[in-house]
Amino acid sequence: MKFGYFDDSKREYVITSPRTPYPWINYLGTQGFFSLISNTAGGYCFYKDARLRRITRYRYNNVPIDMGGRYFYINDNGCIWNPGWSPVKTELDSYECRHGMGYTVITGSKNGLRACATFFVPQNYDGEVQQLVLTNESSAAKTFSLFSFAEWCLWDAQDDCTNFQRNFSTGRVEIKDSTIYHKTEYRDRRNHFAFYTVNDKIDGYDTDRDSFIGLYNGFNDPQAVVAGKANNSFADGWSPIASHYKKITLAPGESKTLVFILGYVEMPAHKKFEADGKTINKEKALAMIDKYNTPEKVAAGLAELKSAWDSLLGILNVNTPDDKVDRMVNIWNQYQCMVTFNLSRSASYFESGIGRGMGFRDSNQDILGFVHQIPDRARERLIDLAATQLPDGGCYHQYQPLTKKGNSDIGGDFSDDPLWMILSVASYIKETGDWSILDENVPYDNDESKAKPMLDHLNASFYHIVNNLGPHGLPLAMRADWNDCINLSCFSDTPGESFQTYTNPKFKAEGGYSKVAESVMVATLFTYVGPNFVGILEHKGLKDEAAKAQAEIDKMKANIMASAWDGDWFLRAYDANGEKMGSKECEEGQIFIEPQGFAIMSDVGKDQGADLRTLKAIDERLNTKFGLVLNNPAFTKYYIQYGEISTYPGGYKENAGIFTHNNAWIICAAAYAGQGDQAFKYYSEIAPAFTEETSDIHKTEPYVYGQMIGGKDAGADIGMQGDHFGQGKNSWLTGTAAWNMVAISQYILGIKPDFDGLSVDPSIPSAWDGFKATRKFRGGVYNITIKNPSHVCKGVKSMTVDGKAVEGNVVPVMGAGEHEVEIVLG
Ligand code: GLC
Ligand code: GLC
Repeated sequence: MKFGYFDDSKREYVITSPRTPYPWINYLGTQGFFSLISNTAGGYCFYKDARLRRITRYRYNNVPIDMGGRYFYINDNGCIWNPGWSPVKTELDSYECRHGMGYTVITGSKNGLRACATFFVPQNYDGEVQQLVLTNESSAAKTFSLFSFAEWCLWDAQDDCTNFQRNFSTGRVEIKDSTIYHKTEYRDRRNHFAFYTVNDKIDGYDTDRDSFIGLYNGFNDPQAVVAGKANNSFADGWSPIASHYKKITLAPGESKTLVFILGYVEMPAHKKFEADGKTINKEKALAMIDKYNTPEKVAAGLAELKSAWDSLLGILNVNTPDDKVDRMVNIWNQYQCMVTFNLSRSASYFESGIGRGMGFRDSNQDILGFVHQIPDRARERLIDLAATQLPDGGCYHQYQPLTKKGNSDIGGDFSDDPLWMILSVASYIKETGDWSILDENVPYDNDESKAKPMLDHLNASFYHIVNNLGPHGLPLAMRADWNDCINLSCFSDTPGESFQTYTNPKFKAEGGYSKVAESVMVATLFTYVGPNFVGILEHKGLKDEAAKAQAEIDKMKANIMASAWDGDWFLRAYDANGEKMGSKECEEGQIFIEPQGFAIMSDVGKDQGADLRTLKAIDERLNTKFGLVLNNPAFTKYYIQYGEISTYPGGYKENAGIFTHNNAWIICAAAYAGQGDQAFKYYSEIAPAFTEETSDIHKTEPYVYGQMIGGKDAGADIGMQGDHFGQGKNSWLTGTAAWNMVAISQYILGIKPDFDGLSVDPSIPSAWDGFKATRKFRGGVYNITIKNPSHVCKGVKSMTVDGKAVEGNVVPVMGAGEHEVEIVLG
C-alpha cells in the first residue's frame, strides 16, 4: 500500500494521507539552524547541537508517537482543525504534504477554507520561515480565528526532560509587537535567545503553556483555541510557549498570506541588553525578521534554496530504464547523504539528539557518499577526524563536534576504525585529484606538537592493523569491529554494563582485550582497503613502501584462506576461546554477512572460485525478499562470549536483522564479480523507492534508507514469525545512505572516480539496453552513454571519448568543457 507518490520533476515526495504508518519526516537547514518536520508538522528545531541548543521541545516515544511541533490551529465557527491534520485530527476535505529538498509544504482544507503552509530554513539564516497562505474557496465571507504554536525547550534537551525541580521556575519570555521572545537564562549565563514572530498585527498571544492549552487538555484541544480567543498570558516559570492569535475575515476567493519566523540569535556579551540592563537588545533579531517578512522575500529565499540544491544534485545524474533507480540516484539518495553529513547520527525520529559525539568509522564512511557534492567540507572533516587519531594509529571511537576532541569516555580499540580513514582519504583524492591533502600537517590526539603529514596518519592506520594480529595472523577483534555488537572481549553478565567500553577483568592484564579473538571482517576490510594505500604510495613514488604494504596485503589474503575460509564462505571471527564464529560447525550464527563482500572484492581465494561460491551461499542463506539478513541462523540463546549480538531477539538489529548498511557491501561484491542481475536484485530489495508499494509493511519513509529492516526470523522464537518481517526502523541517519550511493553509482552503474581518471565499468541487469549518465568530474562534464546490445551484465568491449577510441575503461581527465563518452558492453 502507498501513502503518496514521487513528484520527480519537483524533487518531492507527496504524502496524500496524514495517517502514514510512522511519522514521515524531512530536514530543514544545512548550516547552523536545523529543523525536523514530520508530515503533520511535528518535530523540533535546534541550533548546531541537538542537545545543547535545542530551541523547541519534543517528547520522544510519546503517545501518540508524534506530538509536539509547530502547529497552526484554525477555529472556523467552532470547527477546529490543523492544516496538517494533527494534533486536532479533524477529518480534512483535502490534505497533502510535500517533502522537498530542504523544505516542506503542508496543505489542508476544510469547509471551503484552504491553508497552505511552507516551511524552510533559508540559506545562511538561523531561523525557520513559515509562510501560511489562507484562501477562502467558498462562496460566502468567512471569519475565523488563527493560532500559531511553538513550545520552547529550555536549551539543554537532556536537562529539559529531567530537571523539573529547577526548570519549572526558570522560564522567561518577552513580548514586543508581534514577536514573542524566549529568554530563559539569558540574564545570566546565556548570550542567546529565540523568537517567534509574524509579519502582521495580532489580536492576542499566549506565552504560558497551561494558559493556552489548559492543565487537563492536550495539543488536540487547547482551551484558548476552543474558546476562539487568546489569554494574553505571560509565562513566568513553568513552560513558556509562543502562540500568536489573529481574527481573520476573508471575502469569497480572497487570500491572505502571513509569514511567521522562528529564529535564533546570539549576542555579544556587552550588547545583550538595552540601557535598562534587562530588556533584550533586539537589533539583530529585527534585522533577521526584516530579511523574510514579505512573500516576495520568502519567494526569493526559496529560489535561492532551490538553486543551492540544483548545484548539489547536479554533479551526477543518470537516466536508466528504471525510474526508481533514477529517483534514488538523482534525488533522494544524494539528499540523504547530505543530511547524514550535516547531522551525523545526532537527531532523527530514532536518535534523540542527546547522545553525544561523531563516530570515527561512521563519519569516515559518510564521506564516501557526499565527497562529490562538497569536496571542500569533506576535506575539512577528514582533517578533523585524523586529528583525533593516536600516534600508534589507533583512534578515538568518537569525537565531540563542538570541541573536535576525542571522547575519552568511550576511548578507542575498535579494530576497524583506522581502516576507514584510508578509504575516505583515498575517495577524496580520487574525486578531486587533490594530492596535497597528504602533505597537510595534522595533529595526533589533537596535540599540535605531535602533528605529522596526513600520509603519516594513513601509514599509522595501515600498520595499526599489521601490528595487532592474533594467533592466525588475522587482526585482533578488540572491543568490537564494524559490528558494535560483536564484542569478543567486552562480554559480561551484569545488566547495564556497556558491551563496548566495559573492561573484562579476564583481559585486563593483556591491555583490556583478548589477544586471541580475531576479526575476519577486519582482515577482509584490510585486503579491500589496503590497495588504496599502496596506490597512494606508488603515486608518491615511494616504491619500497608500496611493495612492503602490498606484501602485507598478500600475507593477509593467504592467512584468510588458510584459517578463515569455511568451504563455502568466510568465517566471521575467532572468539576469545579460539573457537570459530560464523562457521558450518556452529550451532547458530553459521554465516555472517560482513566479511563476505570485502573478501570477494579483494579477490581472496578467487582462483579457487571462492567469490562465486560465497555469492551462492549468501543467496541461499541470507537473502530474503526484503533484503539480506546479517547472520543465519539467528541466535536464539545468549552466547556470552560474543557480547551484545545475541541480546537482541532474532531478526532484529545485529542479530539477523536486515542491516541495510552491509547489504550494500554484497551489492558491490556481486557487481564486482560480474553478477549484475544478482547485485540489482539485492539493491531493489532494500532501496527505499522500491519499498514504496509495501509502505504498510515497511513503515518508514519510502524516500530514505533506514538502518534496519526486520529479518525473516523476527518473532520466530515467540511464535510470531513474519509479523515484523520487512518492517523498517531507524530511518535517515545511517551509513547505509553513503554505502548504497556507492553501490548503485560506482558498482552497478560503475561510474567510479579513480586516482587517474573516471573509471566506467557497469555491472547492470542483463535486461537493460544500457543507460545514460552525466558526471561532473575534476572540472569537466562527462556525458556517458552505455550500450548493451548483447545483454550482458558486465564487460566493457569498447570505449570512445570525444569520438576517439580509448583502451580499457578509465576515462582520462580531459579538463574543462563537455566530453562525450560512449561505451559498448559485450
Ligand atoms: C550503527 C553504528 C555503526 C555500526 C553499526 C553496526 O549503525 O552507528 O557504527 O557500525 O551500527 O553495529
Ligand atoms: C550500534 C548498534 C546497536 C548497539 C549500539 C551499541 O549503534 O546498531 O545495536 O546497541 O551500537 O552502542
